[in-house]
Amino acid sequence: MTNGGDSTPIPGSNGYYFKWVDNVQAAYALEMQGYPASEGASLATLTYRHDVAPHLFLGLYGTGQPMDGPRNHSTTCVLPKDTLVGYISATAGQQERLTHDTMATHQPQGTRVYIHSVCVNPRYQRKGVASCLLQEFPRHLCRLANHFPDQYPRYDSILLIAHEYLFPLYLKNGFRLLGPSSVVHGPEEWYEFIRKVGEY
Ligand SMILES: CC(C)(COP(=O)(O)OP(=O)(O)OC[C@H]1O[C@@H](n2cnc3c(N)ncnc32)[C@H](O)[C@@H]1OP(=O)(O)O)[C@@H](O)C(=O)NCCC(=O)NCCS
Repeated sequence: MTNGGDSTPIPGSNGYYFKWVDNVQAAYALEMQGYPASEGASLATLTYRHDVAPHLFLGLYGTGQPMDGPRNHSTTCVLPKDTLVGYISATAGQQERLTHDTMATHQPQGTRVYIHSVCVNPRYQRKGVASCLLQEFPRHLCRLANHFPDQYPRYDSILLIAHEYLFPLYLKNGFRLLGPSSVVHGPEEWYEFIRKVGEY
């Protein structure tokens, strides 16, 4: 159970658990490996996002035991014990669509969550890690509001942008395509996705 203010482990399934990321440097190491230089966040940007919204910086950590894949994924593997394998980093706001502003700011009472990074250690990709994170993230947001209503707003939706080749990742994990994004970041076109947080 998340305690609303620190990094108590959140149970996942066999082989992994979730926790608020407490080591931004470790996330930055994955960010550099995962994203092309034109798209990855700098250490300063990740640190800013962590400082303003630590509860929206969710990591998946291995247990050293064989991992059960998420519902729609059958591959199994062993993730290294107590090691950050992948993460989602986000901030919040009130705008309905993603813009350069939403990428760079955080409004504590904003009910829309803007995902900036979904990143998995390249050694453990295509094993369902990002899917586990994307399925846990709305549950996590819902728990925050259920258990700590004085600290967190009731988030209603999650927005992100992605390139076309990753449509299956987001469509398989409950997101809906809104269309091309107005955001220009790096050479390739971006598309915007939304997912309602719902009730858990
Ligand atoms: C994109 C990324 C997060 C995916 O993580 P992952 O743990 O490998 O994803 P999953 O194993 O949960 O993938 C689930 C499904 O998404 C799709 N998918 C995932 N990665 C894909 C890729 N590189 N190309 C095409 N489809 C992909 C597949 O349909 C996959 O199912 P399958 O393996 O049964 O074919 C990871 O490759 C990464 O960290 N990339 C660098 C950072 C990045 O580009 N992030 C996305 C920002 S929008």
